[in-house]
Amino acid sequence: MADARDTLLLPFDQDLLPQPDGDWLFLEAQPLPGGALPEVLCEQGHRGFYLALEQAGYNTAAERDEISRAGALVLANRNRIANERNLARAWNATREGGVVAFAGDTNSSVKALRKWAGRRTEVAGSLSKHHAVVFWLIKSGDDWPLAEAPAVNHEFHVAPGMFSARDIDKGSALLAEQFVGKLHGRVADFGAGWGYLSAKALEVSVEHIELYEADHAALEAAKINAPGAASFSWCDITSEAPLRSNGGGTFDTIIMNPPFHTSRAAEPALGQTFIEAASKALPQGGRLLMVANSRLPYEAVLTKHFRRFSALTHRDGFKVLEAVR
Ligand SMILES: C[S@@+](CC[C@H](N)C(=O)[O-])C[C@H]1O[C@@H](n2cnc3c(N)ncnc32)[C@H](O)[C@@H]1O
Repeated sequence: MADARDTLLLPFDQDLLPQPDGDWLFLEAQPLPGGALPEVLCEQGHRGFYLALEQAGYNTAAERDEISRAGALVLANRNRIANERNLARAWNATREGGVVAFAGDTNSSVKALRKWAGRRTEVAGSLSKHHAVVFWLIKSGDDWPLAEAPAVNHEFHVAPGMFSARDIDKGSALLAEQFVGKLHGRVADFGAGWGYLSAKALEVSVEHIELYEADHAALEAAKINAPGAASFSWCDITSEAPLRSNGGGTFDTIIMNPPFHTSRAAEPALGQTFIEAASKALPQGGRLLMVANSRLPYEAVLTKHFRRFSALTHRDGFKVLEAVR
């Protein structure tokens, strides 16, 4: 089904703008309907999408370089401030006279962002189709200041758009309360985010902890928030999780607050895949300590992949589960 990616290409397909086939930048990049644009530098910090782009032949990086570009494409993500920041980054990266095109579905903040851009420069054009909006600007004049860059949540470094960027997640806090006496040997944190659980684990004297996280920016923040950790891996747990069978993943304990959506809708299958991945990384007797929203159906997959499990506590709509392989 057509979506914001098709809408992003509309002004080019309708010859309103020159083709973005040269020295362009693409932020929040996703594979496009027309196929790869080999000269365009695609920035994608989510490991799963990064791997998909790479496989489809795109020139992809977790973070863009500092080279200025002939033009820029941007797709909306779910966070308004991150979108403002990306539009300003695209504007600043584009050379005088170049095009900056931004698209997002109508549920995103795209219309508010078009107004936001209109207060800074003239909006050169806009089209709506496929329940999405694309608008474009022509770079002229000064760079824009970047919106609300890295912030602090309590004592932690975070950035807009990351999980629990505004406040500590109640479920993660509940899980961390269970850590004393429960974290043995080599510990791994799956879906570590900006490092809250790892930082708390290090407070209770864990000797060895490894972080695995798909969001590149969150992992960079985790390096600041949990500096005592043994390693930080940019990793898609659904396809690249460490395995006990290949020498990696010789953990004694795995901690996690697994993700349950990639879009707005709840996707329990993602959390279930995390549980399966944890079982493949733990040896017999290894333990998984996890928290989840009480309504999420994880019990069947725990029964399938672990010898036993029990609920350590329930509170505020969350359950903390301990499973032994
Ligand atoms: C519910 S958050 C928990 C974050 C952190 N552990 C905490 O407790 O605050 C889930 C995390 O999993 C990450 N994530 C989502 N999909 C992933 C994947 N396929 N592989 C690795 N991490 C993923 C998200 O970026 C997010 O940081």
